Order: sequence, then C-alpha cells, then structure tokens
Amino acid sequence: MTANNLRETVLRDPTDFGEGDYPTALVNVTNVCNLSCSHCFVFRDDNPADARDKMDDATMLRQIEILRDKHNIKSMLFMGGEPMIRKDLVMEAAKLFEIPAIVTNATYGIPKLPGGLVTVSLDGPEHMNDPIRGDGVFQKVKAAVLARDPDDDTSVMVQMVLTAQNHSGLEEFIEEVREWPISGVAFTFYVPRANDDTGLAWDDLADRDPVIDRLIAAKKKDPNLVKANVGTLELMYSDRCLEYTGENGENCLMGSTLPLYMGDGGRFERTFCCFGNDVDCSHCGGYVVFNSAYHKQIKGEGEYHHRSRYFSKPKP
Ligand SMILES: C[S@@+](CC[C@H](N)C(=O)[O-])C[C@H]1O[C@@H](n2cnc3c(N)ncnc32)[C@H](O)[C@@H]1O
Ligand code: SF4
Ligand code: SF4
Repeated sequence: MTANNLRETVLRDPTDFGEGDYPTALVNVTNVCNLSCSHCFVFRDDNPADARDKMDDATMLRQIEILRDKHNIKSMLFMGGEPMIRKDLVMEAAKLFEIPAIVTNATYGIPKLPGGLVTVSLDGPEHMNDPIRGDGVFQKVKAAVLARDPDDDTSVMVQMVLTAQNHSGLEEFIEEVREWPISGVAFTFYVPRANDDTGLAWDDLADRDPVIDRLIAAKKKDPNLVKANVGTLELMYSDRCLEYTGENGENCLMGSTLPLYMGDGGRFERTFCCFGNDVDCSHCGGYVVFNSAYHKQIKGEGEYHHRSRYFSKPKP
C-alpha cells in the first residue's frame, strides 16, 4: 500500500448526512466520561455512545472540516462524554469554526476559548449537585472557575439542568455563583426519555409551571446574571409547550442543528435529535428548543427549520 493509499484509508470521509445547510452542529468528540451523572441523556442505552468507539484526531479534524464546508456549519458545540478528555483535539478543531463552543463538566479545568463560549455544567448548589454529578465535584469545579483568568476573552457560563428533584435549589444556586468570574448562569430543563421512570421528569407538566414562574422572577431580579429570555421561558408553560415540540418532535425547530454522535466503529451517526434517540418530546425541557421557537416564530428572525426536514417519520 502506498503512503497516499494509507492516508486515504485512515482519513476516511464522513458519513453522508444528505444535503442542506446546518448553521449549528454538535459533536461528541468522545464517548468517554469520568462522571456518570444521573440525568445524562448521552449514555441512554439506545444511543450510539459506546466508549470503545473512537475516531483518531486527524480523521475527526478532516471529517468535521468536510462537514463544515458541505453543510455551511458556522457554530460547532464540542461535547461528549467529556470533551476535555480530548482537549488538544478540541482546541485544534475549535479553530475551524466561526462560532466555537464547548460544554464541559470542568473537572479538568476551564479551557480558554478566545471569542468563544465555554459552558460549565453544575446542577445546583453543592448538596444538590454532588448527588447528581458525584462527590466532591462541586468544590472541584468551583475551584477551577475561581482560578480562571477572567480576562482571557472567553465567555464562561454556568448551566444547571432543572429536574423535578433539584429545582428547589434554583435560587440558592444563583446566590452561590453570583460572585464567580463568569458571564452568567443559564438554566435548561430536563429532557426525559420515553417512559422515563427516573423521577427526574415532571409527569404532569403543569407541575413544572411554578418552576418556570420562579425562573422568570429570578431573571427579572438579576437580568444581567441570569441568561434567559422571559419570552422564551413563557413558551415553556404547559398550556402551550407542545406547540413548540409536538408529541414526537414534529413542531421542534432543532432541524437546523446537526447532531454528530460517535457510532459503531468510530463513525459519525446522526441521532433523532441532539438529546439522542429515545426522547419524550412531549416533555422536552430543552431551553434551546423554545429559544429557537421564540426567535423564529415570535420575533421572525434566525435560520431555524423543523426537524422533520431530515426525518420523514417521527422516530428512526
Ligand atoms: C451531556 S453533557 C456533555 C458535556 C459534559 N460532559 C458536561 O457535562 O457538560 C452536556 C450538557 O447536557 C446536560 N444534560 C445531560 N443530560 C440531560 C438531560 N437529560 N436533559 C437536559 N440536559 C441534560 C448536561 O448537564 C450538560 O450541561
Ligand atoms: S459529565 Fe456530562 S457526559 Fe458525563 S455523565 Fe455527566 S452530563 Fe453526561
Ligand atoms: S429537541 Fe426537539 S426532537 Fe429533541 S426531544 Fe426536544 S422536542 Fe423532541
């Protein structure tokens, strides 16, 4: 085999995801994670998330560059698993995109991403976060955030996933992070799987409404710290949220996002949506879903498409 043939064999082309633009994409650069959070959608057993499946750095860089050019991807979110387990790759790959972003558990520190966004995941104050993310994780992440250089031109946000079990910590969490060197604190709601029996979901969405009320109140009290649109949050109320999700995602505007999971044999696979395959759209709490709807349907701005654009039937 010649050197050129070998190079072609190793640096194989990406999976064909059809035509069309995807202004935003996310990529699971690794299926490996050092934590095992109780709410995590990535490792649900119907998702391509086998830790043995890997793509080497050079192949991944080539593939995401090809996909960037083919689908006009502007914004890439690097996630996993824990993306900082492959920090060198992520920092190199981030240079390929106009708008790079990383979401990390921050147990390996806070990466510098000049001009970009780093989202640090914490799921409440210490006494709520650690039962979800693991003993000692809150203090470790807090130390990493406090140690970062606030002048490194990186926008660092802290994000809490609100569930039926930790929502009472919302206001305490805001107080905790108030003086941290961050750009703000973001919230999203739990995305359950179909027939979710974890106790993390709100079976009756009307029970989630008072938490939305509290989040709106928190935003009004601290408009600079709490990063949320009141208009977006209002779309999440139980009497209207289905208009923006649908029972099976038929109203969801996340069709402009290409989710790249790491599948069998280290090949990219697209899942039903960014939250994986076996999702309960009727109870979806993804802030980004409602924010897309807010911008497109209410404000008439932005490039968002129904997710039915790439799947003609409800679930793969
Ligand atoms: C899957 S993690 C991957 C990146 C990294 N390991 C981390 O924890 O930030 C990305 C984000 O999804 C959130 N997340 C995990 N499971 C979720 C679920 N079922 N619903 C909503 N968000 C979830 C995590 O809390 C985290 O903020
Ligand atoms: S750290 Fe992130 S990827 Fe790992 S289990 Fe937790 S939420 Fe999932
Ligand atoms: S993001 Fe869209 S497709 Fe995915 S669970 Fe939410 S509503 Fe369904």
